[in-house]
Amino acid sequence: MKNILITGGAGFIGSHVVRLFVNKYPHYKIINLDKLTYAGNLANLKDIENKPNYEFVKADIVDEDTLMAIFDAYRFEGVIHLAAESHVDRSISNPKEFIMTNIVGTVNLLNAARSIWKENYSGKRFYHISTDEVYGSLGDEGKFLETTPYDPRSPYSASKASSDHLVRAYNHTFGLPVVISNCSNNYGPFQFPEKLVPLCINNIRHNRTLPVYGEGSNIRDWLYVEDHAKAIDLIFHSGGDGETYNIGGNNEWTNLNLVRKLCEIMDRKLGREAGSSEKLITFVKDRAGHDFRYAIDSTKLQNELGWRPEAKFDEGFEKTIEWYLSNQTWLDDVTSGNYTRYYDGMYKNR
Ligand code: NAD
Ligand code: TYD
Repeated sequence: MKNILITGGAGFIGSHVVRLFVNKYPHYKIINLDKLTYAGNLANLKDIENKPNYEFVKADIVDEDTLMAIFDAYRFEGVIHLAAESHVDRSISNPKEFIMTNIVGTVNLLNAARSIWKENYSGKRFYHISTDEVYGSLGDEGKFLETTPYDPRSPYSASKASSDHLVRAYNHTFGLPVVISNCSNNYGPFQFPEKLVPLCINNIRHNRTLPVYGEGSNIRDWLYVEDHAKAIDLIFHSGGDGETYNIGGNNEWTNLNLVRKLCEIMDRKLGREAGSSEKLITFVKDRAGHDFRYAIDSTKLQNELGWRPEAKFDEGFEKTIEWYLSNQTWLDDVTSGNYTRYYDGMYKNR
């Protein structure tokens, strides 16, 4: 059995990647390494936790010695690195945590991989998962290409950009076999409800206001999380050494229209009068330095590796809302305790 390390596997996207790999590749032993921050939740992996080819290891990627000992013990042949601090608003209130996990943590992983692979890189791969936010903000026209110059504008995107540069530098300087992908906004089951989509679903459920930043005119490209997980599978196995792939849904929405869409579907599913949830929309103070628009050109991934986003937007959103409505205990568990403190702190002055 090949030992494959997935970092951040207890988080939103990581849990989908772990599930896909554990089910699809019985000859891989998947080791999920996660610190279990507020965003990490082993309940996301209940359905596969007893599979013989799955193991969970609780560790912090910032802890260099522990990481090195884990690499020594497991001799991973591949690394898929998703562990990160991922929420822009938190990076504005506490940038340091993002520097530690996203930059220092990534360097620790690169060093640990180098140290066990010892320049014998045959059959090895270090796959770094990144975001389209490293490219900065677009106006009304154009899309991000793999060649678009980096222009990160939030502490989150700056920390991810920095880690991308380091991964490429280890490829160029030490020959470490790396691959990188930069993806647009994901939505789907198991996303922590600090992010726009699950936050709105949860608030509509409780008849709470829906905080839309600024005028709601900012634009994001949305991709169903399982489509991202499938792209990661494809890139991990077939992507070129040292290459970068952009992943996107070709599915742009202004925040206001997206929130309206969620309201419309939720009204239907909850048997509420059409238009009633929309009344919960409340315009609040804008995010500092709020990027206007992200849009991805994923032609390279489509042409070279044959990937296509499968979920149609309406279908993906119906599925997502249905999942949150039939997993209300999951939502209630993650929104108890610290979440309430976070929510009150984040939104009380907006
Ligand atoms: P998430 O916040 O849901 O999960 C992050 C996971 O990393 C959690 O399980 C957390 O416990 C773990 N973690 C955090 N710090 C750690 C540390 N120091 N050591 C070990 N584990 C740690 O994030 P997500 O939305 O699933 O994003 C996963 C990756 O994908 C990130 O690298 C993010 O930058 C990238 N990404 C996310 C999106 C998106 O829309 N969510 C889009 C593009 C790229
Ligand atoms: P988010 O889900 O935090 O993802 P990102 O900042 O990585 O794109 O936010 C998506 C968009 O929604 C972004 O433009 C900010 C906006 N937003 C709101 O309007 N209200 C909210 O309460 C949140 C969390 C986000």
